[in-house]
Amino acid sequence: MDLSLTDEQQALWDLARDFIDREVVPNSRDWDRREQVDRGIVAKLGAVGFLGMTIPEEYGGSGGDNLSYCLVMEELGRGDSAIRGIVSVSLGLVGKSIHKWGTEEQRQRWLPRLCSGESLACFGLTEPDTGSDAGNLSTRAVREGDEYVITGSKMFITNGTWADVSLVFARTGGPGPKGVSAFLVPTDAPGFEHREIKGKLGLRGQSTGELVLDGVRVPASARLGDEGVGFKIAMSALDKGRMSVAAGCVGLAKGALEASVQYAKERTQFGKPIASYQLVQEMLADMAVGTDAARLLVWRVADLIERGLPFGTAASMAKLHASENAVAAANLAIQVFGGYGYLDEYPVSKYLRDARVMTLYEGTTQIQKLLIGRALTGVNAFA
Ligand code: CAA
Repeated sequence: MDLSLTDEQQALWDLARDFIDREVVPNSRDWDRREQVDRGIVAKLGAVGFLGMTIPEEYGGSGGDNLSYCLVMEELGRGDSAIRGIVSVSLGLVGKSIHKWGTEEQRQRWLPRLCSGESLACFGLTEPDTGSDAGNLSTRAVREGDEYVITGSKMFITNGTWADVSLVFARTGGPGPKGVSAFLVPTDAPGFEHREIKGKLGLRGQSTGELVLDGVRVPASARLGDEGVGFKIAMSALDKGRMSVAAGCVGLAKGALEASVQYAKERTQFGKPIASYQLVQEMLADMAVGTDAARLLVWRVADLIERGLPFGTAASMAKLHASENAVAAANLAIQVFGGYGYLDEYPVSKYLRDARVMTLYEGTTQIQKLLIGRALTGVNAFA
C-alpha cells in the first residue's frame, strides 16, 4: 500500500480542513446547544462537492477515489460528527447504493439532487426491535399489481426528519435475510410519517428520526435491485459505511488530540505547563498512537476498494478500532482538560458525547468482532 498522497488528494484534504474551520467549527457548539444544525450547511456541503464524492460527474457527482473520500470524512469528523453523519448516510449509504444497484432511471432521478444537496437521503434499516439482527426486520412490502404497499417502522434513522428519500428495507418474502428487498421511498408519500428523536447523549444537532410507514404505496420501479437482494444491498452499503464512520472517528480523535496538545502547553500547574508532566505526555502519546493506527486501518480499506479486492473484514477492523479509539481519546482529552473539559466551552466534552455512538451504529463493536472472528475461523457465530 502506497502511503503517499497525490497532489490532488493533499489539496482536497487542505480544502476540507479550511472548509470545516470556516463553516463548521465556529458554529458547532451553538448547533449542539440548540439541538439543530443550520440546514444551510447542506447546500454548502453540496456546493463544495462533498455530497457527491466517488459518484461520477454524469450523475452530478464530484468523482474522486475512496481515499479522498476518507480524507474529507476525517475532517468532517474533526469538525462535527453531526455534519459527517449527514454526508456518510445521504451519500455513503444511500447515494452509493443507488449508483451501485440502481437502474438508469433511479440514478438519474435521485443522484444529481443528492450530490448537490438539494435533497437528502436516509437509510431505513434499523427497527425498534431489530438492530444488530438486521436480517430479521419486520417491515413488510406487499406486491399489489404494479405497486408495493409498505407498512412498518424504523428507528434511530440519521437524517430521518430531513430526508426527501428513504432507502427502506422491507420483507417481500419469507423470514431471514433472503426475504428482504430494498425500496427508494419519497418521504412525502401518503402514509409516510417521521418523528424527531430528541434527548440524545451526542450528535445533538443531527436530525435523528423514527419513521412510520402506514400502507405507503410505491411503484414497482422504486424497488432497488431484485426482490430478495435487499439484505445484500444493506450489508454492502454498510461495508463502505463502516469505512466512512471509521474515517470520521479518526478526525474526532485527531481533534481531541490537537485540542489537548494546545491546552497542555497553555495550562500551568505547580508552576509549569502541564505538557511538561510525564503522565500528561503519556495520555497524549496514547491518543496519538491509537489515532494514527486507526487512520492506517482506514486507508487500507480505501486502498483495497480501489484495487477491487475484498474489504469487508478490513472495514470491520477499521470501524472497531477507530470507534473504540475515538471514545478513549475523547475521554483522555477530558482528563487533560480537567474541570474545564467538563464544560462545553471547550470542544472536548462534545467529542466524548459524539464519540459514544460510534461503537453502536453501523454495527456495534461486538458485531464487528464477530464478523472478524467469522472471517478468521470460518465459523458463523450468528447461525
Ligand atoms: N456484502 C454482501 N452480501 C453480504 C454481506 C456483505 N458484506 N454480508 C452478508 N451478505 C449476504 C450473505 O452472503 C448472505 O447471502 P448468501 O446466503 O446468499 O451468501 C446473506 O447476506 C445473509 O448473510 P449473513 O448470514 O451474514 O446474515 P446474518 O443474518 O447472519 O447477519 C450480521 C449478519 C453481521 C449480524 C448483520 O445482520 C449485521 O451486520 N448486523 C448489524 C447491522 C448494522 O450494522 N446496523 C446498522 C444500522 S444502519 C446505521 O446505523 C445507519 C445510520 O443511520 C447511522
